Amino acid sequence: VQSVIVAIDGPSGTGKSSTSKAVAAKLGLRYLDTGAQYRAITWWMLSHGVDTDDPAAVASAAGKPVIVSGTDPDHPTITVDGLDAAGPIRTQEVTAKVSAVSAVPEVRTLITDLQRSIAAAAADGIVVEGRDIGTTVLPDADLKVFLTASPEARAARRSGELKGSDVTATREALIRRDAADSSRKTSPLAKAGDAVEVDTTELSLSQVIECVVTLVEEKR
Ligand code: C5P
Repeated sequence: VQSVIVAIDGPSGTGKSSTSKAVAAKLGLRYLDTGAQYRAITWWMLSHGVDTDDPAAVASAAGKPVIVSGTDPDHPTITVDGLDAAGPIRTQEVTAKVSAVSAVPEVRTLITDLQRSIAAAAADGIVVEGRDIGTTVLPDADLKVFLTASPEARAARRSGELKGSDVTATREALIRRDAADSSRKTSPLAKAGDAVEVDTTELSLSQVIECVVTLVEEKR
């Protein structure tokens, strides 16, 4: 079996994480959640008193935290300075600040280098999910997928994940974050010219997984 590198990009709430993990598990590939890395650096900044709205402060602190990602799709992990960050990176506080932190070029350079070294170490191949994987991080990926869905479908999925949250507020926060991620100067959220776009609005998760598995198998 040939090693294969799969890039899966798209806005929030399109099912990127669930799809990427399941595809990797089915095909025996490693899995990397790059959003978790940006969340981890944001969590570190917030807990170390760095003003996340000050790009210069963020830039000068960017190299301090040590972020380690575990790439088993059945049990992905993330630590910051040796501490388990899986829980704290999902708080609303981190979600509200992550776009500002991830827009800082020094942060992107460091995290992009980390992502490339993790992908290079995955001998049997890897599924890497994010916003700029196909365009910037791994432009030579064997397969690039860009997942989309209507704003309504994305907000409904996110509210389902965040139990008890308000759909309208979730929808607004999500639209704001995608707008920030799409409009930043360095490496914005974008579909690569050679990516396959999959609109998941009317598809079940298992249909999306099946679709991506088929696309990967065509490349192997
Ligand atoms: O995927 P997730 O929603 O966890 O990503 C959190 C944030 O991390 C995104 O809103 C974006 O600001 C940033 N991100 C990024 N580039 C990536 C992945 C995530 O800028 N490749």
